[in-house]
Amino acid sequence: MQRPRGVFSSALYLPPPAAYIAGMNARPILRAGHPILAQTARPVENPRAPEMADLVAVMRASMAAAGGTGLAAPQIGESVRLVIFEVAAARATEAPDDGPVDMTVLFNPTWEVLDDRQELGWEGCLSLPGMRGEVPRYRRIRYHGWGLDGAPIRRIAGGFHARVFQHEVDHLDGVLYPQRMVDMARFGFTEELLAAAATAPEERRDD
Ligand code: NI
Repeated sequence: MQRPRGVFSSALYLPPPAAYIAGMNARPILRAGHPILAQTARPVENPRAPEMADLVAVMRASMAAAGGTGLAAPQIGESVRLVIFEVAAARATEAPDDGPVDMTVLFNPTWEVLDDRQELGWEGCLSLPGMRGEVPRYRRIRYHGWGLDGAPIRRIAGGFHARVFQHEVDHLDGVLYPQRMVDMARFGFTEELLAAAATAPEERRDD
């Protein structure tokens, strides 16, 4: 597996604000260790149900307040198979089928691997605030699911787009990114990792 250059060249999340913004509908994000985050979430029978639109609105508010790029329903305490994410242009890599991707709502997402190769990239998670880790993910996948209107969504994804999807869908199976890591020496507090990278950038490179 190839490591990207630089510690945060593919960081998954922007640093969260010091305090949650008091958004109208925002809920606090559950943190690692909460049992709901370890559960397998149940499928959504009807994505067009009014309560699902309400849940998506709460998730969007919660994600925006916390400064994330993706969120899974269990992270706000709802153990159902629903994720939201977006890929800003600044986050997209040059990989084929990477972003930018508009805000995407996916019910009951499933996926398949299109390229057996994985690549390492730095990730954060709103459920592990202030931390980062280097995680292997498949570089090219196809995913499908259903949108809020009940219409099927089917996409091929590469690079950061594929990474975000895999990270969020892991939440639906009770998996947090440290459980995917292969080298726990590449896990730590963002502030410490940034400080270390600033003083010894060559040690953080793998080229
Ligand atoms: Ni996460």
